[in-house]
Amino acid sequence: MVLIQLSTYLLVFLLTLLHSSVLYGQPKKSWDGWWNYQGISGPDWWGRFNPNWNLCFKGARQSPINLDPKKLLFDPNLGQIYVDTHRIDGKMINTGHSIIFQAGNDSHVAVNITGGPLSYRYRFHEIHIHYGMKDDKGSEHAINGYVFPAEIQVFGYNSQLYSNFSEASYKAQGIAAISLLLQLGDSSHPELRRLTEQIGNITFRGDEVDVKQVSIAGLLPKTNYYITYDGSITIPACFETVTWLVLNKPIYVTKQQLHALRNLMQGYKSDPPEPLGDNFRPVRPLNDRPLRTNIDFNLKEGDDKSNCRPSMFKEVYYKAKMWTSEENILSSPNDVNFN
Ligand SMILES: *[C@@H]1O[C@H](CO)[C@@H](O)[C@H](O)[C@H]1NC(C)=O
Ligand SMILES: *[C@@H]1O[C@H](CO)[C@@H](O)[C@H](O)[C@H]1NC(C)=O
Ligand SMILES: *[C@@H]1O[C@H](CO)[C@@H](O)[C@H](O)[C@H]1NC(C)=O
Ligand SMILES: *[C@@H]1O[C@H](CO)[C@@H](O)[C@H](O)[C@H]1NC(C)=O
Repeated sequence: MVLIQLSTYLLVFLLTLLHSSVLYGQPKKSWDGWWNYQGISGPDWWGRFNPNWNLCFKGARQSPINLDPKKLLFDPNLGQIYVDTHRIDGKMINTGHSIIFQAGNDSHVAVNITGGPLSYRYRFHEIHIHYGMKDDKGSEHAINGYVFPAEIQVFGYNSQLYSNFSEASYKAQGIAAISLLLQLGDSSHPELRRLTEQIGNITFRGDEVDVKQVSIAGLLPKTNYYITYDGSITIPACFETVTWLVLNKPIYVTKQQLHALRNLMQGYKSDPPEPLGDNFRPVRPLNDRPLRTNIDFNLKEGDDKSNCRPSMFKEVYYKAKMWTSEENILSSPNDVNFN
């Protein structure tokens, strides 16, 4: 009883707040300033008040998800993913929700993402960084229930069908996202360092800094293996337009780099200091979506790959390895268990 009354009270309070800010503020700005990752503006509430965001609440193909090794289907038709290797200039921005690196608007050659399950060419648009205030959480995707201290998401939009990222974000086959899980390590990744070197300049919301000569391909771990599924953007409006590609190896982030990230703030310089960290959405149900992978757990060492069977294997069980000591998060024919 008390609980119900309390939550009704909260709702009324919240609606009043929203109502007044929509009436007297600029509506678009208010909604963007409203959502965050904690409490009454947190992920549980994103879809409940703004009808444009109702996928966040009602959507059945949402992201992130837990990648359960038991649910993986091997698909021999999934080829390599290609990411152009040239360097681009752009800027890092503290959006108040995340740290992003955005490709510059000028006319230099696009970084294209193609191959794998993608039927179209996707043009790199931006990177988002999600991380925890402590090492035991931070990534959005989980593997076998395990979360990582951080996750980098590389977004591209379908440049064959759409003219920019914002248009593609709510259209069919609009977005491709490559997820890199970050593991704590001793040596810093050189491409990641190029980004993290600058974060002291973007402590507050709205701060930005130019970053030159970034290689998106250079940021990726050296692997041809991944898991793919159809999901959503992990921030409002949660559009279900994303082909996710989660790579099977982590890249390494140092304690110092995480420390620098944890000093960043959600608000403007004039606002009370509230750290930006813990900016991850909790995992959403998989529902009936297939989780496909090109990791062939049936292949024994030395087997000829051309013998791949034409159809997907069902119920290929295997273990998620101990990522603290091993390079691969998921792998190795030796770990296969058939049920
Ligand atoms: C690109 O242009 C848009 C719209 O003019 C602007 O908001 C954005 O900050 C620009 N991005 C970069 C990286 O310069
Ligand atoms: C990416 O695709 C665009 C559009 O086809 C093309 O102009 C550009 O040269 C491609 N980038 C590279 C590095 O090939
Ligand atoms: C994106 O493309 C659409 C459709 O061409 C256009 O209306 C819109 O202004 C563009 N948005 C940006 C940010 O360039
Ligand atoms: C801020 O950026 C400048 C160059 O843009 C760089 O020299 C400096 O090291 C950065 N400062 C911090 C605190 O990251």
